[in-house]
Amino acid sequence: MYVIGIGAGDPDHLTLEAVAAMNRTDVFFTIDKGDAKGDLAGLRADLLARHVTRPHRVVTARDPQRDRSAATAGYAAAVGDWQERRAALYERMLADELGDDGAGAFLVWGDPALYDGTLRILDGIGARGGVAFDVVSIPGISAVQALAAAHRVVLNRVGRPFLVTTGRRLADEGPPPGVDDVVVMLDAVDAFAAVPADGPDSRWDIYWGAYLGTPDQVLVHGDLREVRDEIARLRAELRARKGWIMDTYLLRRYAR
Ligand SMILES: C[S@@+](CC[C@H](N)C(=O)[O-])C[C@H]1O[C@@H](n2cnc3c(N)ncnc32)[C@H](O)[C@@H]1O
Repeated sequence: MYVIGIGAGDPDHLTLEAVAAMNRTDVFFTIDKGDAKGDLAGLRADLLARHVTRPHRVVTARDPQRDRSAATAGYAAAVGDWQERRAALYERMLADELGDDGAGAFLVWGDPALYDGTLRILDGIGARGGVAFDVVSIPGISAVQALAAAHRVVLNRVGRPFLVTTGRRLADEGPPPGVDDVVVMLDAVDAFAAVPADGPDSRWDIYWGAYLGTPDQVLVHGDLREVRDEIARLRAELRARKGWIMDTYLLRRYAR
């Protein structure tokens, strides 16, 4: 099973290694999550049409419904049950669709190592023991790299770390103490808008990018206090217009 990072939205993000793996693949598996991200499915289809020169099949499975109504006490059990049903479904799909020596692939958004569950799912299927397979992970250009390139910034300062986190965690916990450079993904709550930005130690620049690498790319950079309202407004407008938004941003604390 190949898990192939296809980049963050620009067809030119695809690496030569990814193209080579795609041309060793018999069956491309896709998961229909029932969401409205037709543009993303479109990019995958376009990449196959442009780069795969040998016969292949595309097989789509429907992601099992997850019980999101479960109260907090039942949450872990609900997620565990859903993951188990998902592993069982994918195991059957692999067993049914791939011959003994067949090669399958998942094309994953960005890089497989960053906020993507595919490698974990395949681990889970392997652990069930029903089908035996090897996994090859092919790195891709993540939204984080696309953001840095679009703004022409270096993510770390000299000899310093940076942290990648989620919007939910930033909203719940605030900026992590001792970290001056924070990349935020998966923000469904405008977490940047609530970051304290007025104290002497808490002035931030924000480098924000939506639909990075696509013709719809939008970038905003500035002092967080000055641009956060504009970004919140843009997010709402773009989401309403397109039906979905994918954005990533770097928060950079002013040098003390
Ligand atoms: C489920 S994660 C997948 C990350 C992906 N594996 C990667 O390496 O970029 C989805 C999040 O990635 C970010 N993202 C992915 N593609 C993006 C794009 N083209 N522009 C901006 N953000 C993007 C957003 O923060 C989004 O909420």
